[in-house]
Amino acid sequence: MSRSVKILLVDDEVGILDTLDILLRGEGYDVVRAEGGKAGLELIERERPDLVLTDIRMPGVTGLEVLARARELDPEMPVILMTAQASLQSAMRAVNEGAFYYLQKPFANDELLAICGRAVEVRALKVENRALKKEIRRRDRSADLRPVGKARGFTDVLRLAETVAPTDSTVLISGESGTGKEVVARYIHGLSHRAGETFSSINCGALPESLLESELFGHTKGSFTGAVRDKVGLLVAAGGGTLFLDEIGEMSPATQVKLLRAIQEREVIPVGSTDPVAVDVRILAATNRDLEDEIRRGAFRSDLYYRLNVIQLHLPPLRERKEDIPLLARYFVDRLGREQSREVPLDLDDDALAALNEYDWPGNVRELENALERAAVLAKGNAITLGALPDRVREAPPLRVVGGGLPPNPTMEVIEKAYILWVLQAEGGNKTRASEVLGIDPSTLYRKLNRFGIEV
Ligand SMILES: Nc1ncnc2c1ncn2[C@@H]1O[C@H](COP(=O)(O)OP(=O)(O)OP(=O)(O)O)[C@@H](O)[C@H]1O
Ligand SMILES: [Mg+2]
Repeated sequence: MSRSVKILLVDDEVGILDTLDILLRGEGYDVVRAEGGKAGLELIERERPDLVLTDIRMPGVTGLEVLARARELDPEMPVILMTAQASLQSAMRAVNEGAFYYLQKPFANDELLAICGRAVEVRALKVENRALKKEIRRRDRSADLRPVGKARGFTDVLRLAETVAPTDSTVLISGESGTGKEVVARYIHGLSHRAGETFSSINCGALPESLLESELFGHTKGSFTGAVRDKVGLLVAAGGGTLFLDEIGEMSPATQVKLLRAIQEREVIPVGSTDPVAVDVRILAATNRDLEDEIRRGAFRSDLYYRLNVIQLHLPPLRERKEDIPLLARYFVDRLGREQSREVPLDLDDDALAALNEYDWPGNVRELENALERAAVLAKGNAITLGALPDRVREAPPLRVVGGGLPPNPTMEVIEKAYILWVLQAEGGNKTRASEVLGIDPSTLYRKLNRFGIEV
């Protein structure tokens, strides 16, 4: 054990204190002595011992009161009671109320040492157990907020995010619009030691330069028309937490200089002031532009880029992680079903899923989320069907349904639909001829087209 174990001895008889003190010190324990119960109460609080050894019967404050205080301060602090025959009953009761053990006087030294050793061991286990529980809670929480996806290109990004999360490192998150940059930024924040503090975000592309500067750095009263009072900038206000700078590529060069300075010096100078204010914030930045390209064009400062780009996470577009489409779809549909508090959980039928798999998703996860949200509103029964999906999704080039790839394990319906589309296309969209080729009645074809949500 790195630190020696501290035992508090409480007894009103100095002779007993002396004897036990020598015995326990001899075993390597750190001993604190309290002469009487009153001193015991004070020392428990001040010394926070690992173990308390107390006599029961003492004038004034009794051992039972010492026990109660110990349990109140730290329920895992073991208390061993020493008792004479006369107070045996109350000692036994005390064990029921949380005392670790009672020793009946006179007791042998070996017996005392064995009990103390066990108490210390149990305490160490309890402390370890508590630490493990905390760790499990932390992991559960991270599982809750873990972004959905199992595609390699995506999980690599998550793993890197998990690695950098506990550091205070600046991270640049790049990726097309809707790929989940903010989701990953929140994930990093949630896993960091700043998780209990705020996650603030600002869109650098949404504000004109002067406003962005006063938002970020703050300003003093009267520094410009309309600055009627002092304003604390986000870099300062987000103190202790994480600040997400979205669309950093839209920031003007002048603001970039100020931001670089703030990051390097860990302080900001509010607009109109000369006094720097200290900054303690972790910065995560996002961009859907190619910043290296912007640097070549002279629109982005390379020094700021290198400062932000300590770690770069690049999120792949959804079309490059198609195996995540069913997972994400399931996740969104479940969530939408819950939000609508339906009696029967909302489902997604096979055709609709096939169409989702087929589509290219230029708007990435956000577009998928929006499409399903819309479909959930339109859904008539308990499932989202093809007909409820937006036209552009439904009308993915039909031949690709056959040629470009059916989903793995397609259902009969999916194959039937693909076949019908293929025939229809081959017949130039003529439904009468298509129904002849298919060998079904035109009215049956109409019904099927309707069901599949196909418009010719
Ligand atoms: N892996 C994921 N798991 C769950 N939801 C996701 C995931 N990725 C994205 N989303 C959802 O998709 C939407 C878009 O994500 P986000 O806002 O993070 O994208 P973005 O990359 O910041 O887009 P933009 O560049 O347009 O700001 C959000 O509603 C988000 O909740
Ligand atoms: Mg975003």
